[in-house]
Amino acid sequence: MSTLWHGRFERGPAEELLAYTVSLPYDQRLFPDDIDGSRAHVRGLGRVGLLEDAEVQEILAALDRVDAELTDGTFEFLPSDEDIHTAVERRVTEIAGPVGGKLHTGRSRNDQVATDLRLFTKRHVALVAHRLVEVQQVLLTRAEEAGDAYLPGYTHLQRAQPVLLAHHLLAHGWALSRDLDRLLDARRRLDVSPLGAGALAGSSLPLDPESVADDLGFAGVFDNSLDAVSDRDFVAEVLFDLTLVGVHLSRIGEEIVLWASEEFGFCRLDDAYSTGSSMLPQKKNPDIAELTRGKSGRLIGNLTGLLATLKGLPLAYNRDLQEDKEPLFDALDQITLGLSAVEGLLATTRFDHTAMAAAADAPTSSATDLAEHLVAGGTPFREAHAIVGALVRQHLDEGADLAALVAEHPDLGPSAAELLGPGVAARRRTTRGGGGPGPVADQVERFRARLAADRERLPTG
Ligand code: ARG
Repeated sequence: MSTLWHGRFERGPAEELLAYTVSLPYDQRLFPDDIDGSRAHVRGLGRVGLLEDAEVQEILAALDRVDAELTDGTFEFLPSDEDIHTAVERRVTEIAGPVGGKLHTGRSRNDQVATDLRLFTKRHVALVAHRLVEVQQVLLTRAEEAGDAYLPGYTHLQRAQPVLLAHHLLAHGWALSRDLDRLLDARRRLDVSPLGAGALAGSSLPLDPESVADDLGFAGVFDNSLDAVSDRDFVAEVLFDLTLVGVHLSRIGEEIVLWASEEFGFCRLDDAYSTGSSMLPQKKNPDIAELTRGKSGRLIGNLTGLLATLKGLPLAYNRDLQEDKEPLFDALDQITLGLSAVEGLLATTRFDHTAMAAAADAPTSSATDLAEHLVAGGTPFREAHAIVGALVRQHLDEGADLAALVAEHPDLGPSAAELLGPGVAARRRTTRGGGGPGPVADQVERFRARLAADRERLPTG
């Protein structure tokens, strides 16, 4: 079996070695980036005179053919193709003949794979960013449609104060805005070409890494060849950013699971975005929402696994780095699918405004408003808290009607009892960023503007 290192070795690799070290099954998806990288490298060799024009053209033509074969599925892989880089170079040489042997001039698989992975990550982070914005759009649309609908806001999953449904939905929207920001920021930082770093130290040949970086559309070029071939910070960063998206989807999912339960009854899932039970005819299950919770565990595993792989690696390239790809690919795939699924889930879920209002209008939901009413009349807050707390206790222990207790109380009275009316408490939060109609209307405006600006920032191409 012929290898890239056959000159130095008397014997070929053991079968077990190849079985254990091969990365082709998963890194073949890097092929468009590998071919783009090779095209730019060959053009670069031509510009500095290391290849004749005719040689450049011959290798480029062979690369075009390899590209077509890989695209249409006619490319035949051989058992000796350890990874996508080996396979492409082997096939280029078969097609172009001996000149194919010049493709790898001044290059190592170490700078090659780092280049491929950066190009790939740049493209895929852009796709995730586009999907994220669509989920934000759905949250905005649902918030606009929700109007003045309100539900209990919770702390400790205990009813706390009513808030508008729009407020609740946009809370998730802002989390996704931060995710988008982080992903675009990581993308900007990874936009650096490692090509020309060679195996670790650069080259004695007159390469021009800057022009090759330009050709590949990178914003910058490496400053240190050791760093260029061994840096996987960008994989770690993107994995963290994707994991946090996953955690945010998981939190949305958990609320949908709760809201769709008969106990809450705040929403009904669309048939197309829920599943039935094989045994229980009445069931409608929130599987997408549950899987966003489940898959977030796997995303956290991808991130921690990669960090453990990187920890303790000496400079520069080590084969351990090959373990960067599967966690990254898996996280990108899962988040891309998850965002589409959650987009559809949120777009089609029917919110039950009546059930939400009924839960929010429980008399105790206005307890804080009663205390604030006393504060407005000059009572110190601690005292107000104790007065209302005592009334709530009486209401719960003795079953006395809270509105009647309030109306009869010397410090409160009938005007305070009106605070217990349906929807009253939901309208009383007026401060910036709060959950009442005034601040929520401002917030919707700000979210809309932010989303429009974010759309402008989305990478094209
Ligand atoms: N498949 C390898 C990887 O993903 C490519 C680089 C191999 N380099 C080496 N020196 N063996 O990291």
